[in-house]
Amino acid sequence: MAGRRRLIVVSNRGPVVHDRDANGARVARRGGGGLVTALRSLVEHHDVTWIASAMSAEDKKVAEEAGGEPIAEEARSGAPYRLRFVVHDPSAYDWYYNVVANPMLWFVHHYLWGLANAPDVDHGLHHAWNEGYVPVNRNFADAVVTELEREPDAAVFFHDYHLYVAPGLVRERVPDALLTHFVHVPWSMPEYWRVLPQPIRRAVHEGLLANDVVSFHTSRWRRNFLRSCEDILGLEVDGSSDEIAVGERVVAVRARPISVDPQEFDEIAASPVVEAQEEAIAGTRPETLILRVDRTDPSKNVVRGLRAYELYLDAHPEMHGRVQMLALLDPSRQDIPEYAEYLGAVQRAARTVNDRFQQEGWIPLDLQIQDNFPQAVAAYKQFDVLLVNAIFDGMNLVAKEAPLVNTRGGVLILSENTGAHEELGEWALTVNPFDVAGQAGALHAAVTMAEDERRRRLEAIVDHVREHDIAGWIEAQLADLDEARARLGAPA
Ligand code: G6P
Repeated sequence: MAGRRRLIVVSNRGPVVHDRDANGARVARRGGGGLVTALRSLVEHHDVTWIASAMSAEDKKVAEEAGGEPIAEEARSGAPYRLRFVVHDPSAYDWYYNVVANPMLWFVHHYLWGLANAPDVDHGLHHAWNEGYVPVNRNFADAVVTELEREPDAAVFFHDYHLYVAPGLVRERVPDALLTHFVHVPWSMPEYWRVLPQPIRRAVHEGLLANDVVSFHTSRWRRNFLRSCEDILGLEVDGSSDEIAVGERVVAVRARPISVDPQEFDEIAASPVVEAQEEAIAGTRPETLILRVDRTDPSKNVVRGLRAYELYLDAHPEMHGRVQMLALLDPSRQDIPEYAEYLGAVQRAARTVNDRFQQEGWIPLDLQIQDNFPQAVAAYKQFDVLLVNAIFDGMNLVAKEAPLVNTRGGVLILSENTGAHEELGEWALTVNPFDVAGQAGALHAAVTMAEDERRRRLEAIVDHVREHDIAGWIEAQLADLDEARARLGAPA
């Protein structure tokens, strides 16, 4: 393991969100999503200052009490780190998060628009970019510059699509800063980026290229990024190289697949709260349990997954009463109309399945819409089939987490458009996310797969994830950082 580094981690969502409990006492909950879970490991081993948006009213109070300075926090292991909340103007944050980052950029990254009907790039979007996305990124850049003044040798790790403009703003003010950016989402083809007005798509690419290192989860997203730098910025790019020359500077572009901390999952899986949840599932589950665990995000393709299950039940009456799909869905980004509508579509599709097939004593689909991590881990232990059919997904950590702790020789059904497929595809049943008939067939193949075959595939996935764990992901990025530092320090 490389030595302790001074790192400034920058992400929109932080590791904790503060709240008040029923007695009025301040409580800290873990931030949602795979990204913050993964980054938490970084904090355990390095000297980290984490810069994130103040999300709740209580976060804002915490920031205010600290006079805008970082607060002392502790990781799960007790390792100390510093957390600096950035407080944004509420309207600017709304335009940034609810108009630009999540509907617009997220939709570009995951190809979520049918272009005949959406998007309409109107004044509202331009306004949200200029008065929301850019000012919020400026706030982040200010916080980074302040931290760099305190620790000039620290390297900065930006994360994700919320922060494309910030690196360029930092670079203008601290030309020698060492900046890296990890893009956790897929990179779409250059043509799709052309939906965005030219100044916006250029700003996204130029902002990213202000970093010394830009990383993706797979070579597929990395390749698309190289193509789009060529197409959108007119840069000369050698597709086989892992560097781009931008004026006098060189930017490394890497594929570094993220992973999970197997030990952490083993511990969580054995914890009393998870065991209690597991007993509850084991007590009501039928012979075969099909599981999905997702945020209610249009990119996760829940509706088509339910349709596939309906087709499967249609074709296999012999399984009625013997199978159940458990869908554990974390409600996500509900202030954004597209997400609220999608959740409605999920509920309607779920209703259709149960209305058609439900019988005395058998509920074919158990849909639970809540954020309940211990319950998800309990279900990870119990599934026979795990359905991951995302339209596109940067990685999809559920595909790595769930097999790790599964006790039943569970089969993974995996969309060919997830980053995880590049690593785990050979041991999964691959599906095209748009082909609901194919997914219904995969459900049947998984349910009827011979026991030794199921075990063989599951073990291979577990071995792969244990070998390529989160520590390996972090090491690889630190090596990229060292290389970039050496290049910067080298005489011109
Ligand atoms: C994805 C993104 C993350 C994001 C997470 C949760 O994993 O890559 O950047 O934090 O979703 O989404 P949210 O909007 O709740 O932060």
